[in-house]
Amino acid sequence: MVKSVNGIYETSADLTHSQQALTLPSPTSELTIFAPHNQTMHKVLILGSGGREHALAWKIAQSPLCEKLYIGPGNAGTSEVGTNIAIDILDFKAIERYVDRHKIDFLVVGPEAPLVKGIYDHFAKHKVKVIGPSKVASQLEGSKSFANDFMRSFNIPTAASVDITKANLEEGYATIDKQKGNIVLKADGLAAGKGVLILEDKAEAKRQLKAMIEGKFGAASETVVIEQFMDGIEFSVFVATDGKSYQVLPIAKDYKRIGEGDTGLNTGGMGAISPVPFVDEALMAQVKEDIIEPTIEGLKIMEYPYKGFIFLGLILVKGKPYVIEYNCRLGDPETEVILPRMKSDLLELFAAMHDGSLADYKVKMRKKTAATIMLVSQGYPGSYPKGKEILIDQSMEGSIAFHAGTKKQSHNTVTNGGRVIAVTSLAKNHKKAVKKSLENISKIHFDGMNYRTDIGFDL
Ligand code: GLY
Repeated sequence: MVKSVNGIYETSADLTHSQQALTLPSPTSELTIFAPHNQTMHKVLILGSGGREHALAWKIAQSPLCEKLYIGPGNAGTSEVGTNIAIDILDFKAIERYVDRHKIDFLVVGPEAPLVKGIYDHFAKHKVKVIGPSKVASQLEGSKSFANDFMRSFNIPTAASVDITKANLEEGYATIDKQKGNIVLKADGLAAGKGVLILEDKAEAKRQLKAMIEGKFGAASETVVIEQFMDGIEFSVFVATDGKSYQVLPIAKDYKRIGEGDTGLNTGGMGAISPVPFVDEALMAQVKEDIIEPTIEGLKIMEYPYKGFIFLGLILVKGKPYVIEYNCRLGDPETEVILPRMKSDLLELFAAMHDGSLADYKVKMRKKTAATIMLVSQGYPGSYPKGKEILIDQSMEGSIAFHAGTKKQSHNTVTNGGRVIAVTSLAKNHKKAVKKSLENISKIHFDGMNYRTDIGFDL
């Protein structure tokens, strides 16, 4: 580890070495990488440390336009494809110093927290190109109430809802009394994926509403959105936008519950597949017309700067798609299935998002299905140990191990989070892709390793 002049630590090697040091053979290794002529080379800094950021780094490292790749803070996997830097993703001044010193061209923001805090706006007058939305546009994820108002303004189908605070708690109780079926309580702000409660019992729903408003999720639940429950099948659509035009990326579906058959506690995601068999051309045409286009139109009319990804959490109810939530970033583990399916160069796409040519950009995708299975620590999503040594048999092939909660410790790789490694495979269909990932998972070991074997079971 080398200490740099402004207090930021760097690890790992240069890109050429890193590309050769990928943990597993890449399914995109058939792509020809050539030295481009007359094309601008880019220095890239990715912020984040999960499986999504390893997948972004893995994809960007394959670009012939990538001159240098840094990941802050990254994980053991990202250090194999670029240079990890120890940096706080919410310390914009430290990030700016690094961007200046290393002449970064693209700042790719993985998680939502820096976006909601306003990293896009911090760099608004800087020449670095931020991949992400402005602070105001990030409110689509940062405030459920803001997102619902936006959807109502632009006629985007979503659940009926009412905002409740301490001041109108009685209205909240009355709303619960009137609800038929399950009651959905959502913390208005960011609550690390834990702020949504779905309750059957009205008395319990009232207790939880009061607890939320009194700080169950801190400031995030000072306002609670009570929503009509929608019963259907969920899927996720990802869009790259420059705030005026858009391109649709591969569709995905994630599996959030810890247990087989979608049982037990909610997690950040135990696995995902892409594409989703029931999302056909007719349904996508409806999603575009009813949801994506009014969303982009809304951004345009409201003049919300947005040069990043929109992650639409959708639900199909009686053949009609509705928005459950907006996210202002890519999903995790969805990114671990989306990017292996993308043939297009991610840096070309980023350039198009910034130079006004996105409308003409064609995103090329592989036909194959990708599945990923998340290996998690014992006890996750509750408390879990860290520092367990991870062993990966070198005979593992045909899958990619995207690191999530891992770090290097001396010469070993150890666990450093609840979600540890996402094992992605590409195959003719999701069953075959899941089978391939399971075969390769048998070659990975750490104490207490847990995972689901049934990703895609409901399709
Ligand atoms: N997998 C869900 C998310 O990234 O929010």
